[in-house]
Amino acid sequence: MRRRRTGQTCSRSPHLSSETQTVEHLDVAVIGVGLQGGGHLASYRALPGVNLVAVCDLNAEAAQAAAAANGIPNCYTDYREMLAREKLDAVSVVIPDHLHYEPTMAALAAGAHVLLEKPMALSVAEAEEMAAKAEETGLNLMVNFSHRHQLPSIMAKQRIDSGEVGQPIYAYARLNNTLFVPTKMLSWSRKTALPFWLISHELDRLRWFFGSEAQKVYAVSYSGVLKAKGYDVADLYQATVTFDNGAIGNVESAWILPETAPWVADCRTHFICTDGWLDIDHMEPVVKVATSQKYSHPGIMGGIIRGEPVGTVFEAVKHFVRCVQRGEKTDVTPEDGVAITKIACAIVESAERGEPVEL
Ligand SMILES: NC(=O)c1ccc[n+]([C@@H]2O[C@H](COP(=O)([O-])OP(=O)(O)OC[C@H]3O[C@@H](n4cnc5c(N)ncnc54)[C@H](O)[C@@H]3O)[C@@H](O)[C@H]2O)c1
Repeated sequence: MRRRRTGQTCSRSPHLSSETQTVEHLDVAVIGVGLQGGGHLASYRALPGVNLVAVCDLNAEAAQAAAAANGIPNCYTDYREMLAREKLDAVSVVIPDHLHYEPTMAALAAGAHVLLEKPMALSVAEAEEMAAKAEETGLNLMVNFSHRHQLPSIMAKQRIDSGEVGQPIYAYARLNNTLFVPTKMLSWSRKTALPFWLISHELDRLRWFFGSEAQKVYAVSYSGVLKAKGYDVADLYQATVTFDNGAIGNVESAWILPETAPWVADCRTHFICTDGWLDIDHMEPVVKVATSQKYSHPGIMGGIIRGEPVGTVFEAVKHFVRCVQRGEKTDVTPEDGVAITKIACAIVESAERGEPVEL
């Protein structure tokens, strides 16, 4: 009932090595139906062959509302109960940064492929355990680093791969938020830190474009603005990350920009290459809107066309679903998640110790 296969029948949790398994119908659930979880739900709904069978959120009202809005028959507040009762092919884990480990491990143990929101974890030990569990079970564990699914990044990477700009050797990457994010949007901002919440996206793009592993991190941070408002978290980080092949990344991230800005995220990156230059300007929005109340632009994350989602979350979910359906590995691997967790943890450590950290 849940699936059809070409080639052969097999038990749940298809191993990725088998070329004959094509799972046409996936039974899927989403754990965490907040801001980002809503995007996962809309994306699954829009994809053929996906049957959204359950949602789970600690907030029962939110879970019920998400289930009702998306026509999902089963609703839980405890993911353990959901995993025990539902036979799931795939699960999205879309809960706060510091809580990713347990539901991910439980979903993999239950035989479900996992699409996990970035950051993979706040500690290298947890990230490595999750990667080991994915390896042991043969299931996909894809960490959703958004730049991997955005047209500007993909086009820039294609220009690098074509050889026309030479090898990227330096990046300046900035990703900032307004104060709205740590003080109003995220109820759990005190439990994470910028290297995980924001910088992980830029670290992933640097490592992806440079094609090399990080070697050394030197980071500094500033604290004060958010502390004065009762948030014991750093306001900004600046990190210099050097890579094995000699490439250098310079990353800036703050979340104290004024709320009068017409956006919540300020993101711009350029790469200096041995024979060229790439500038990715995420600040050029799809549309700019001025009302009598405010000026805003929605950025390039995505939107809705004819009732269906387009954009980065949709592309990430689509890639994950297609890989699971075809019995393939996702192009973002658990090892990518572990590598980024190592650099993010090194940024925090370097800023605390005031000295470089070798990886
Ligand atoms: N890839 C991206 O661009 C992107 C963008 C935004 C958020 N995120 C990531 O998505 C994740 C969720 O962020 P968000 O902005 O949606 O947060 P949110 O606070 O809006 O939503 C989180 C939801 O998880 C629920 N929850 C918490 N603990 C739970 C548990 N144990 N079981 C079930 N539900 C639980 C909460 O009740 C809440 O509804 C974070 O890891 C964040 O970093 C990624």
